[in-house]
Amino acid sequence: MAIERTYAMLKPGVLSRRIAGEIITRLERKGFDIVGLKIMRISRELAEIHYAEHKEKPFFGELVDYITSGPVVAMVLEGDQAIKMLRLIAGSTKPLEATPGTIRGDYAMHTNVNIIHASDSPEAAVREIGLFFKPEELLSWKDGNSGWI
Ligand SMILES: Nc1ncnc2c1ncn2[C@@H]1O[C@H](COP(=O)(O)OP(=O)(O)OP(=O)(O)O)[C@@H](O)[C@H]1O
Ligand SMILES: [Mg+2]
Repeated sequence: MAIERTYAMLKPGVLSRRIAGEIITRLERKGFDIVGLKIMRISRELAEIHYAEHKEKPFFGELVDYITSGPVVAMVLEGDQAIKMLRLIAGSTKPLEATPGTIRGDYAMHTNVNIIHASDSPEAAVREIGLFFKPEELLSWKDGNSGWI
């Protein structure tokens, strides 16, 4: 097993649509351990650092506007190959290409409001977890189910 931590974020709109619980339930049922969880409002400064790789893209301004437009649910998930697994479950960036059964495939219509963020590499996961969480906010735990998941 290769236990990893990844950064997941339910984007603005998810709390307003009252689907945060449903999405978190999917992540729990899949088998991820939630080791960090909080609601926060992202500052423009933090949003620009988080999405720095897209600074030159035409949609950057709109992306920062969106991600700072309301509260997000920030999470750190732990599990075997958690980084790739979460990307798979989140689905393709463009909802039109996201397979039904994925989170974007089931809950999103438009790329610019695609409801969930997932770290795309081990380096991104470390960087993003560090941006959004202090080490003391993360807690690993054991529930005795690992043999079944
Ligand atoms: N062509 C586009 N038009 C508008 N917004 C876009 C476009 N491409 C990407 N975005 C927005 O920028 C975000 C970051 O793009 P990226 O290529 O990193 O996709 P992703 O890794 O699937 O998404 P995220 O980083 O949010 O998990 C996307 O989730 C989407 O909200
Ligand atoms: Mg990305």
